[in-house]
Amino acid sequence: MPYYSEQVIDEVRAANDIVDVISSCVRLQKKGSQYFGLCPFHNEKTPSFSVSRDKQMYYCFGCGAGGNVITFQMQYENNTFQEAVESLAGRAGITLPRREASGQERREADRRAKIMRVNKEAAKYFYAQLRMEQGKAGMEYFTGRGISPETMQKFGLGYSTKYSGNLYQYLRGKGFDDGVLRDSGVISIDGRGAHDRFWNRVIFPIMDVGSHVIGFGGRVMGKGEPKYLNSPETMVFDKSRNLYGLNLARMSRRPYLLLCEGYMDVIALHQAGFDNAVASLGTAFTPGHANLLKRYTKEVYCTFDSDGAGVKAALRAIPILREAGITSKVVNMEPYKDPDEFIKAEGAERYQERIDSAQNSFLFEIGALEREYDLKDPEGKTAFFRAAAEKILRFEEELERDNYIEAVAEKYQVGYENLRKLVGSIGSRAGMARQPRPLKSGVREKKKKEDGMKQSQKLMLAWLADDPDLFEAMKPYIQPEDFEDGLYRKVAEEVFAQYRDGQPDPAKIIGLFTDGQQQSEAAGIFHARLPEVTTREEKAKALKETVIRIKENSIGCRSRQLEPTDMEGLQKLITDKKNMQKLHGTDFCIFLPNEDKIETTNGRMK
Ligand code: UTP
Ligand code: MN
Repeated sequence: MPYYSEQVIDEVRAANDIVDVISSCVRLQKKGSQYFGLCPFHNEKTPSFSVSRDKQMYYCFGCGAGGNVITFQMQYENNTFQEAVESLAGRAGITLPRREASGQERREADRRAKIMRVNKEAAKYFYAQLRMEQGKAGMEYFTGRGISPETMQKFGLGYSTKYSGNLYQYLRGKGFDDGVLRDSGVISIDGRGAHDRFWNRVIFPIMDVGSHVIGFGGRVMGKGEPKYLNSPETMVFDKSRNLYGLNLARMSRRPYLLLCEGYMDVIALHQAGFDNAVASLGTAFTPGHANLLKRYTKEVYCTFDSDGAGVKAALRAIPILREAGITSKVVNMEPYKDPDEFIKAEGAERYQERIDSAQNSFLFEIGALEREYDLKDPEGKTAFFRAAAEKILRFEEELERDNYIEAVAEKYQVGYENLRKLVGSIGSRAGMARQPRPLKSGVREKKKKEDGMKQSQKLMLAWLADDPDLFEAMKPYIQPEDFEDGLYRKVAEEVFAQYRDGQPDPAKIIGLFTDGQQQSEAAGIFHARLPEVTTREEKAKALKETVIRIKENSIGCRSRQLEPTDMEGLQKLITDKKNMQKLHGTDFCIFLPNEDKIETTNGRMK
């Protein structure tokens, strides 16, 4: 596999203007400094897909797809990075060097590829074991659970024998060294030697959307702890960005996806003809999962366990899905424990009926809310309707609010007009009928705070990358460490680093991420902007609040993590706190260019 140096990749990007490339497949219209068109990555009637010539990037406000010209080529043509670079080079008449290595990147790519090969070999090994004499126990287990040979094959199910060390021997025989085996997570290596992670379990290989094995789950065949043992996160296995079964479900012709909790649920559903089932595998559903799903569907049916944990999981997933622009419904599995048991007891037709009668996720949330109040008590009842009204206010569209007012009024037998008035009065008292209202739930409040912090960091990064003067002014106050660990930190570091040799290049920063999802997220950062802020004072105020919020958060995080012996860290905290006081007393107008410059050159702050 060829590796291209950063220079070569830069050259290819520079030679392919993003507006030209995208115009050849999407009709774009110029609006100000941006181009707009219908997003090629999701279905839409009004254009929310924007392309910027200045930044050489694209971003869809509807579905969150985004990136630079190479990302576009990858997403649109379903190319790998390599293929995209080659095809764009061809388009621009650039001859690519045959083979080029770039230290760190190349070593990482090598490592990743090796781990993938280990996973593949291990999967083949487990698969073969299941079908041999020594795999009888596993075969009996699966058969006993009603899994057909075709289904076993489709999911690549396998078996690990009682002897911990067989897989290790096998993989060593294939030429893999201990380092790679440890990094792959299938072998654990400690002072006492090397052991197979999985033994005496039936094995479920976990695949990415391209059907490459990235990890495993292993179940005990009977009672025992833990019931399922899973691969740890590795260079290729990020639990919050992969869903079990999505490699198959993405090909489904059904227009929605079924989201469940377990391996066996997915398998039972597929076997019963519901080839659109995926699972988050016991890990909490994350925005990373939602963004992944969004690439394939706009509607998700949550078909979780019917116990308290399942309800909780649904209440957690619904807002995350909603945030990602996915509508959801909740399928009731009562009186059975989960989809697997339901199907076994009632069959596919009955399950389909449950899908057809699934509950709207908002009404599901209202139902959960209801249980927090005593509706027999007039006061409790009033409090419940207020809480419901507040939730209804979170919908931005009047029509949508109206529909929910109607639904709630009908369900709880209260006058439609009365409820509408209540919603209206709470909304106007808050002075912002459209603003999301804080909820009582601690978890959600925390999540909100996190989202708010992300939003602040996004804005700050967008401003910093966009405006060298502002960057100069802010440099003494804000550092890359102030940004959330992970993608935001990496983007911040890059923005700061690129300012050292000129102005930051968003397309280049996006290109630093190899994962498409992360590229979209990075593109989203550079598209962040303040809506409807008009005057210079308001801009200054927004800027000040943003800096202070980020700084306070960062100081808080660092002081919580500070080791008592870390004098340097302590010193830095004290300086930062002092600086903060200065910031509180500063008029940020001094950091902004004068009025006409904002109007003409700083498109972002319009
Ligand atoms: P459940 O406990 O609901 O199991 O966990 P299940 O899917 O019904 O499993 P069966 O039917 O008894 O075989 C749901 C999911 O949570 C993860 C697994 O992905 C499981 O499928 N889990 C559960 C673990 O990772 N480890 C565990 O110990 C238990
Ligand atoms: Mn089960």
